Amino acid sequence: MSKILYNNSLTETVYEIAVEGSFEGGMGQFYMVRAWDEYPVLSRPLSIHDLEDDRIVFLYRICGEGTRILSKKKPGDEISIDGPYGNGFPMETGRIALVGGGLGTAPLRLAAKTIRELSPEKLDIYLGYSDEDINSDRFSAYADSMQIDIGGFVTEGIDPSWYDVIFACGPEPMMEALAKKTRPYDVKVFVSMEKRMACGIGACLVCTCKTKNGNKKTCKDGPVFAGEDVFFDEL
Ligand SMILES: Cc1cc2nc3c(=O)[nH]c(=O)nc-3n(C[C@H](O)[C@H](O)[C@H](O)COP(=O)(O)OP(=O)(O)OC[C@H]3O[C@@H](n4cnc5c(N)ncnc54)[C@H](O)[C@@H]3O)c2cc1C
Ligand code: FES
Repeated sequence: MSKILYNNSLTETVYEIAVEGSFEGGMGQFYMVRAWDEYPVLSRPLSIHDLEDDRIVFLYRICGEGTRILSKKKPGDEISIDGPYGNGFPMETGRIALVGGGLGTAPLRLAAKTIRELSPEKLDIYLGYSDEDINSDRFSAYADSMQIDIGGFVTEGIDPSWYDVIFACGPEPMMEALAKKTRPYDVKVFVSMEKRMACGIGACLVCTCKTKNGNKKTCKDGPVFAGEDVFFDEL
């Protein structure tokens, strides 16, 4: 069990929680989080939002019972977090764009921080929100340029010819649009797929993602896949 340092609301339904301890993990990996004893039965996957020497940070939206219970927890309360799990974003340099939609911005903060440390030629960040800006202030320190879209299509502002690599996380239609838009260009696109998960460790097959290399387990083979490999229209 690990102690909560803070659990702050950023909007009515979006929270940022920091948990004390020295944790491991790379950009795009996730932890299975549990803030209750018996019900709900399953722990819930949350992406690593940020890591520091003494804490791990998650960004989450109240979605159902599990995240509702989590949102009621106070500093000093203890929760169980287990991980890191999954294969995250690869280490890349060059001209890089991060594209996040809504809570899909969750894994991109650690990505922004990590990539900035790798000294990219360029790091541009595109954030799209359906109705309000949740957390763009958390990204500005890392970006050479930032575009924020509210209520539109964040992918429309991206010129794929400017980049060597794009990392994306958000609603599946957003990632599908990005994969299609970037297909004619010489740019590597990686997408983080948020499938429903049960075990989180590759044992139950709940999280199947159809790819050109066959059915993959999002929890173990992903959640990050090459955008060109995912069959978005069969999801
Ligand atoms: C690898 C991974 C990383 C994730 N990282 C984050 C994160 O950083 N922040 C965050 O807020 N959420 C994240 N999620 C989604 C998060 O796990 C779910 O929101 C959470 O499990 C909901 O639990 P709940 O008990 O509150 O809601 P539930 O009662 O379990 O579900 C409520 C509703 O949400 C839908 N739902 C639940 N999980 C998912 C999912 N994975 N994809 C699509 N719909 C879902 C259900 O169908 C249902 O309609 C991630 C999911 C995955 C697979
Ligand atoms: S969640 Fe069980 S196999 Fe992926």
